[in-house]
Amino acid sequence: MKRVRKKSTALFCLILSYTLSSVAEPQKAAIASAHPLATEAGFEILAHGGNAFDAAVAVSAALAVVEPASSGLGGGGFWLLHRAKDGFEVVLDGREKAPLAANAAMYLDEQGNVIPDLSKNGALAAGIPGMPAAIVHLAAKYGRLPLSQSLQPALRYAHNGFAIGARYQRLLQSRLQVVAQNSEAARIFLDNANVPASGFLLKQPDLAHTLEKLAESGAAGFYQGEVAKKLVSGVQAAGGIWTLQDLARYQVVERQPISGNYRGIKITSVPSPSSGGIVLLETLTILAGYELEKLTPTTQIHLITEAMRRAYHDRAFYLGDSDFVKIPVKRLLSADYAAGLRSTIRMDKALPSAALRGELTADTPGTDTTHFSIIDSVGNRVAATLSVNFPFGSGVVVKGTGVILNDEMDDFVSNVGQMNGYGLVGSAANAIAPEKRMLSSMTPTFVEDKTRVGILGTPGGSRIISMVLLGILDFAKHHSPQSWVAVPRFHHQYLPDVIEHEAGCFSPETLQVLTALGHQFKQTDTPYGDMQAIELNKQTGQLSAASDPRGEGLADVR
Ligand code: DON
Repeated sequence: MKRVRKKSTALFCLILSYTLSSVAEPQKAAIASAHPLATEAGFEILAHGGNAFDAAVAVSAALAVVEPASSGLGGGGFWLLHRAKDGFEVVLDGREKAPLAANAAMYLDEQGNVIPDLSKNGALAAGIPGMPAAIVHLAAKYGRLPLSQSLQPALRYAHNGFAIGARYQRLLQSRLQVVAQNSEAARIFLDNANVPASGFLLKQPDLAHTLEKLAESGAAGFYQGEVAKKLVSGVQAAGGIWTLQDLARYQVVERQPISGNYRGIKITSVPSPSSGGIVLLETLTILAGYELEKLTPTTQIHLITEAMRRAYHDRAFYLGDSDFVKIPVKRLLSADYAAGLRSTIRMDKALPSAALRGELTADTPGTDTTHFSIIDSVGNRVAATLSVNFPFGSGVVVKGTGVILNDEMDDFVSNVGQMNGYGLVGSAANAIAPEKRMLSSMTPTFVEDKTRVGILGTPGGSRIISMVLLGILDFAKHHSPQSWVAVPRFHHQYLPDVIEHEAGCFSPETLQVLTALGHQFKQTDTPYGDMQAIELNKQTGQLSAASDPRGEGLADVR
């Protein structure tokens, strides 16, 4: 009996992989990014004979210039790649690392309490950047054009300037005090100590110079020599702990993507040091046991919330940088484990998060960012999510470099049991250690079923994973990418024990029913996320691209 089942499972997998593997060439290309100038940069490089990977270099660098609040050379990210000619898939991990002089207690006072904002504002909050190393690697190993060519659009934007818009103003306003404290950041990003008016031409000649060094000398142009010296002395003068050795030792890492299935859909996403892929797949594996489409919308929301609660709980307990801690990935993503978790989900009652097993102890084992999606005319794909963490990162720009330092150190657990900037808790698995990568929620993802391929991702801190999840559940309904990026958003992350949601996400009746089940709610002040998505029809090669209506991005097919 077992053997027969094994055989038929093998046959099913064979058929599935055959149907999944036959993909028509799109003929055209599609790019979706959070800023029109970044999307244009990508198309420009494709027009010059670049492939999707060259375009990804151009878009990443352009975003570093035109979306300085969200990502940049002083930050990091994850680039998920699919090469059409042989189906090879890889994640470029350009996540920041803790400096060599970092330690687990570096943000605590003598009583062991977290010193407010020390991991968020100022030079001590900055991890060693990974973005420059990642784009150099991407160009050299996967691209067709020299870096000097794919960095051209970004260089132009930095030299000639670009007109800032409402999003820049809003994000700067949210970090005004921090940016104003650093004279170099204030000089570049403010207009006479104020948020500039819409249309203000922002020029960044120092950043252009740093990009030129990168174009000339590759990674050494940033991690060694003149730029590195400026960065280290600037960071140290501002109270940080970087050394030249930190920069010289930074390495981008190629990691095998993490993948799984949800009711006939193959999902491919990022492994540790992002929690994105693991939490996404764990949630979907729990949900795969239900026929969601046959249930009432309210029951669906209840079950999705209960699945998120359990997967984010495991995030808090087990996840950290897998180069440092052992993560039971296989177990967390197994069908048996999901079935066990499902057996704890009641249809008529929310489980209080406090009732979930265990207490976070120090010895337990183990808002702002950007995403873009690209496919070129032969089917090479990129999904990339990049970050400096909070808007304008740590608020520090090192003089003469134009580089905004990230504040990604806040993604570590500064103190077990205390929440970080996104309200996330965690265990020793995500404690600070020299050269360790802080746990991320970034979730650039590919989805694929018999007839379609999807590329998606978004910024949004801890809510990134739940946004990608809701996008995938919408893909499962055969809706368009315009719909995935627009779905009303809700989120549960285990602690705090509330469903956060956008205004208008739930009807009063739905809220009433869910409240009766024991759920609590918190409406977010504003809509959240900035999803960028692409869909390929595998049979016709037709492309469709969508940019989140909440943002100012541009998605196009050309
Ligand atoms: O890596 C992470 O999970 C965070 N640093 C991402 C931050 C973010 O998305 C902020 N966006 N609104």
